Amino acid sequence: MSQYETPLFSGLLAHAKKNPVQFHIPGHKKGTGIDPEFRSFIGDNALSIDLINIGPLDDLHSPKGIIKQAQDLAAEAFGADHTFFSVQGTSGAIMTMVMAVCGPDDKIIVPRNVHKSVMSAIVFSGAVPVFIHPEIDEKLGISHGITNDAVEKALQQHPDAKGVLVINPTYFGISADLKKIVEIAHSHNVPVLVDEAHGAHIHFHDGLPLSAMQAGADMAATSVHKLGGSMTQSSILNVKEGRVSAKRVQSIISMLTTTSTSYLLLASLDVARKRLATEGKELIEQTINLAQMMRKQINEVEHLYCVGEEILGSKATFDYDPTKLIISVKDLGITGFEVEKWLRERHNIEVELSDLYNILCIVTPGDTKKEAMILVNALKELADECEHRAEKREPLQVLLPDIPLLALTPRDAFYAETETILFEESEGRIIAEFVMVYPPGIPIFIPGEIITKENLHYIHKNLEVGLPVQGPEDDEIKTIRVIKEYKAIQ
Ligand SMILES: Cc1ncc(COP(=O)(O)O)c(C=O)c1O
Repeated sequence: MSQYETPLFSGLLAHAKKNPVQFHIPGHKKGTGIDPEFRSFIGDNALSIDLINIGPLDDLHSPKGIIKQAQDLAAEAFGADHTFFSVQGTSGAIMTMVMAVCGPDDKIIVPRNVHKSVMSAIVFSGAVPVFIHPEIDEKLGISHGITNDAVEKALQQHPDAKGVLVINPTYFGISADLKKIVEIAHSHNVPVLVDEAHGAHIHFHDGLPLSAMQAGADMAATSVHKLGGSMTQSSILNVKEGRVSAKRVQSIISMLTTTSTSYLLLASLDVARKRLATEGKELIEQTINLAQMMRKQINEVEHLYCVGEEILGSKATFDYDPTKLIISVKDLGITGFEVEKWLRERHNIEVELSDLYNILCIVTPGDTKKEAMILVNALKELADECEHRAEKREPLQVLLPDIPLLALTPRDAFYAETETILFEESEGRIIAEFVMVYPPGIPIFIPGEIITKENLHYIHKNLEVGLPVQGPEDDEIKTIRVIKEYKAIQ
């Protein structure tokens, strides 16, 4: 089959065109049974292919027909031996990767700034995380990837690890020397699992960091929906056969996946793959040029800094994705969160994320010069408004959380007997819940860690500026669940 074909989408269209009389789910039956307002908004076309795994439409849990053909084309396009479609985002694909290599008490080497799905998989599987400190960028107040040296050291200390998980590129578009990391891990015969949530497009243009499959990694969970042009929630899991078994991956992804898979999402993966494979290079070229123009103009604005290739050269900053605009706003004397709010309220602009010191904007083939200039001009106006503040206020101090010590495995802590205590009084106790700032969903605490004063302070700081701290059962974070302690009987 050719990359210009879309077996899954075309198969669905052909089926819908036959207009069969449906006595199967979904009960809205081509939209006739759905709320009329919703139907008229979303359209009959979309509803006509909101179908289910009946015979002619194959089954994601055991693909042999049009889904298999679509997955095979995706594998060819992404340079994998096998591609699995995920309707549960990259989170589902990441959980599959971890559970495909780890069982209870198996070690897995992971950077601390992992997405929460990695930690969920560690709790589900009973694996023991061996954390690597990501490189911290003190100037920007963000974490980058992990270094080759740290991977080598971790593998020497833990040669029995069942996998090394790498985030490549990071949310901010920075990538490590993945090829070297793969070489190191493979020399210890350990598979490399890549969280490629922010890299669906990188395989298709030489000016972007190497993709997981290009670097020789064993598995990669890739959010096609984020930067590859498919619908939200649709991702892929790419596998290179050898150190991991595609059959095991199929059975685990199936265990974690709904039996009612959305064909709209699946079809959108099929068409996104076609576009990336056949037009990706050209579209990404235009996107890079647009983003570089924006970067240049933003850097001409006083007190703003948009990160560019000068960031490269440290041990963890081997390459970067220029379509990501990391805009440091700390010299304006306001937080990234305030900038996000200002852009929303004043210019109806929504950014990808903000933190204490930065905002992050993504540029894709969906953007044109018009949108680019709306953002650039808004930032110029903001800088003018902040002029007096930037001069008066001390630049914000960059604060990053330390990695706390792990006293229990995350799974043991998660299932242990617990009690709820005041957040303020929790220093020194072992936490039984996750605490993270979302986005980007990076844990400050994971179950089993010892609560420290510095980390409590970091959480306070985030709450103070209104950043979304999530995870605990008490969403106001006044109380926290910790492992129960028994006092000695007098
Ligand atoms: C680094 C990273 N990994 C994984 C994910 C999960 O991806 P998804 O939202 O497709 O489940 C995200 C989502 O933001 C992420 O930032």
